[in-house]
Amino acid sequence: MASREASILIIEDSQTMAELYLSYLESLPYGLTVVSDGQSALDALKKTTFDVLLVDIHLPDMNGLDVLKFVKSNELPSSSIVITSNGSVEYAVEAMQYGAIDFIEKPFSASRLITTVQNALRSRQLETQIKTLKDNYERSHFEGFVGSSLAMQRVYNIIDSAAPSKATVFITGESGTGKEVCAEAIHSLSQRKGKPFVALNCGAIPKDLMESEIFGHLKGSFTGAISPRQGAAERAHQGTLFLDEICEMDLDLQVKLLRFIQTGSFQKVGSSETKQVDVRFVCATNRDPLKEVEAGRFREDLYYRLHVIPIHLPPLRDREYDLILLARHFLSLYSKEETKGFKGFSPKSEVVINSYSWPGNIRQLQNVIRNIIVLNDGDMVDEDMLPPPLNGLSRDLGDVPIPPVAPPMAELSRSMDNSAALVGNGPAALVNPVTSTSQIQFKPDTIDDIRPLWITEKEVIEKAIALCDDNIPQAAAKLEVSPSTIYRKKQQWDAMEDENAAKEN
Ligand SMILES: Nc1ncnc2c1ncn2[C@@H]1O[C@H](COP(=O)(O)OP(=O)(O)OP(=O)(O)O)[C@@H](O)[C@H]1O
Ligand SMILES: [Mg+2]
Repeated sequence: MASREASILIIEDSQTMAELYLSYLESLPYGLTVVSDGQSALDALKKTTFDVLLVDIHLPDMNGLDVLKFVKSNELPSSSIVITSNGSVEYAVEAMQYGAIDFIEKPFSASRLITTVQNALRSRQLETQIKTLKDNYERSHFEGFVGSSLAMQRVYNIIDSAAPSKATVFITGESGTGKEVCAEAIHSLSQRKGKPFVALNCGAIPKDLMESEIFGHLKGSFTGAISPRQGAAERAHQGTLFLDEICEMDLDLQVKLLRFIQTGSFQKVGSSETKQVDVRFVCATNRDPLKEVEAGRFREDLYYRLHVIPIHLPPLRDREYDLILLARHFLSLYSKEETKGFKGFSPKSEVVINSYSWPGNIRQLQNVIRNIIVLNDGDMVDEDMLPPPLNGLSRDLGDVPIPPVAPPMAELSRSMDNSAALVGNGPAALVNPVTSTSQIQFKPDTIDDIRPLWITEKEVIEKAIALCDDNIPQAAAKLEVSPSTIYRKKQQWDAMEDENAAKEN
């Protein structure tokens, strides 16, 4: 609303009154529209969105309340103010029930009208802000993605912002984290949706055929080129070219790719004719691209040309409760596909699923769930249906109590609290880290006893692991957190200790 002028629809049958309201409001930066009956108001509302409606209760063809009912039933994003006259105040209460946010009684002054309209606009603005915040932070489904973790909300927000631009997107992430899903989401949220999305796997195509795969070839240009062929670059014209596993591309071809990206033009294999296309590039790798540059396997100039908008897809073990959300999602999907009746997981089997680190990420999770469904029958997945390596974990966990699977928001705020504690107390707090697990001081008696929260947390976790004979899944279950939380914290502590050691040197 801040970026455009607010729009007001005045619904008033008396021309004199309508002109009076216009004169009251004309000095303000509002777009003002006047209609003189209910039907014209409904027609205007069908065509245009108004921020505020000023509705006279007595209209020639209908009651002003009918306009309010229309707004409410169509969930229009407009705030309504009802104008009543002497004797029609009783309608005001009813009007509120139909969603009016305020009413003013005739006759009223210019300042009274302006204040009422400004209040209505302010409340409209707040509602819009709340809705935007909710849309941005509570998305559990986004394009092809399932997941409501904070880490994935960040990914969704970058995709939202990057999609409409032509800037090159560089997606990184471990195998099976959804890099292709991400590339497709960028394409389908861009104006190129409806034009081709061409994916080329640079790792799967033999080196000598790669150039022809990208740029195409003429008949007879090499042995086996028995007919002319269009390459991916040409097929992706006006659409998106997804270069998957980009770090696997041969160094010689990287030079040609760089030229193509810079100019948008290329030559087919065996041709001297230059072709020009309009392509948006998205690329992906499960390697660390900078390490590939350092090792001389990936050209630095190409890296900087491609690395415009980086998106990193977090591994599944860092997505908190998305793991269970995804497991339930695939269980329901594959149960239908395989015509089985599985409805959910037993609490113990969910603990085991949560305890595993999922190195193959979502693809591995899909395979495990498919395996369970194909090889078993029933309506609940029990822990004895879990295939290796999860069945080994199930034995390790023994009879530990089952931690409740908290709703995503609880974990969200918990993980935000934790990261705040870690950032807030940061490396500076490492001046005197206490690592002994034998004398843990939970409750300080004096101000000098107070130690950074992360140190106390580290001690508690380390003590729990020691008490469980170094069995991290068991310690995690006792602490009612997922093992991935412990692994992640261990990494954070190591990083902080390294940083602290570097400072001391
Ligand atoms: N967040 C998600 N929600 C639902 N399905 C997902 C999600 N992420 C990935 N998938 C599914 O998991 C599978 C693997 O995803 P994808 O192929 O995009 O991963 P990748 O990172 O490209 O893996 P690789 O590096 O092995 O090529 C696909 O079937 C995809 O649809
Ligand atoms: Mg892939």
